[in-house]
Amino acid sequence: MSDLLAVILAAGQGTRMKSKLPKVLHRLAGQPMVDHVVAVARAAGATRVVVVVGHQAEKLRAHFANDGVELVEQVPQLGTGHALQRVLPLLAESLLSPTVLVLNGDAPLIEAETLLALVERHRLAEAEVSFLTAVVNEPRRLGRVVRTAGGSTCIVEWADATDEQRAIREVNAGVYCFQGDWLRTELPRLTLSPKGEYYLTELIGRSARIVTLESASLASCVGVDTRAKLADAEQILQDRLRQHWMSEGVTLIDPGSVFFDAASRLSADTIVYPHTIIEASDVGEGCLLGPGTRLSAARLGRDCVVRESVIESSILEEDVQIGPFSHLRPGSHVERGARLGNYVEVKNSRIGRDTQIHHFSYTGDADLGRRVNIGAGTVTCNYDSETRRKSRTIVGDGASLGSDTMLVAPVVIGANAVTGSGAVVTRNVPAGAVAVGVPARVVRQVSRPAANAGGDCAPVPTPADPAEGAP
Ligand code: UD1
Repeated sequence: MSDLLAVILAAGQGTRMKSKLPKVLHRLAGQPMVDHVVAVARAAGATRVVVVVGHQAEKLRAHFANDGVELVEQVPQLGTGHALQRVLPLLAESLLSPTVLVLNGDAPLIEAETLLALVERHRLAEAEVSFLTAVVNEPRRLGRVVRTAGGSTCIVEWADATDEQRAIREVNAGVYCFQGDWLRTELPRLTLSPKGEYYLTELIGRSARIVTLESASLASCVGVDTRAKLADAEQILQDRLRQHWMSEGVTLIDPGSVFFDAASRLSADTIVYPHTIIEASDVGEGCLLGPGTRLSAARLGRDCVVRESVIESSILEEDVQIGPFSHLRPGSHVERGARLGNYVEVKNSRIGRDTQIHHFSYTGDADLGRRVNIGAGTVTCNYDSETRRKSRTIVGDGASLGSDTMLVAPVVIGANAVTGSGAVVTRNVPAGAVAVGVPARVVRQVSRPAANAGGDCAPVPTPADPAEGAP
């Protein structure tokens, strides 16, 4: 079986998007639309993917820098046939005649199964040209498939079609398979159309060995070249993703209000409540998400609960509860069994196992140990506006911070230490000590520190005392 070389045409300008961004880099389900086309080509077995770029080529070059995709440039852009001619040097180089699959970069709704069926049919029939068609009620300005009584087939572009041809409801979906050697011979022979373009579709009329597959939907044929079509395509992709995750055992209470990124992964028995967005995230089994939650590049272990909260570039181990109304900013790692919420902000911090931060609070650039209890309103003062430096706060296992404790970093709170309500901690607190006041000073000892307890200060030898200000 010959190699499958996929060529994606993406050099067009896309003026109707009214955007500084090239049309094919506009996002659908979180990914540039051309990435959907590349992914589907690979899923159909393409061993080589070539993208034809032209308009704003430098942005596409930057986008594909590490993607294993080859780029060829088309300047100026003189039509789809002219774009395909840019791959002639690649065809001339290849020793074997590959099967060449051609796709439009602005048609991201095509599915891998459809491409697989087309390639298979093309190869079985040993055709020179195969292409996808759709029979639709509203053929719009798509190319018409004109079949003659004599058995020949050609595509007539809407701009050049007669009224009779425009009445035809079978349209060209813009997805083709070519036999490589045949293409190498025929591509240079394309002629200029009345519109001043080289049409790829002229190739169809040149072959006697044509296969068509009528299986495309109208949506997968129409190029996404306006914001309205972008919104329509987003709806279709979201519906597919919702159906997919429900078929994998995820419950969506109100599917229409849940949005996925194509890069997200969910697991069975997770329940998603309305108005939840899951972007480039991995969610373990049995989680409860939402309502009103946004996960962005988050990794959640099993049995986590995230209600009305935002989690960005962070990790939650198993059985973690967040929210309502909390925000985990990038670099947060919450260990198993921890509970965070309401109105809790965490950034670039590690929250130890079974630690609790139940009420409005800011933890930034901190390492909290296990079973730490953080009182309401506690803040890590991690930024020094004079030196413009950020510093870390370390809180040892079992420490209990009273409401409104200000931790002026860099600072270390030893294991099992306690702070009083409103303490402004500017110096390290020894393990097992109680510190109160502004600035906080150690007044007694609540427990004897273990030999290896956290904190780097000598303990104050006073008797044990109940925690002050802790929730
Ligand atoms: C094309 C087909 C039409 C088919 C339709 C399906 C032609 C002549 N017509 O029309 O029969 O029904 O697709 O969607 O092929 N491009 C380049 N270089 C160019 C021109 C276009 O790379 O010089 C790229 C565009 O970026 C786009 C794709 O080719 O991704 C399709 O081009 P477009 O001009 O939009 O063709 P359609 O009018 O959609």
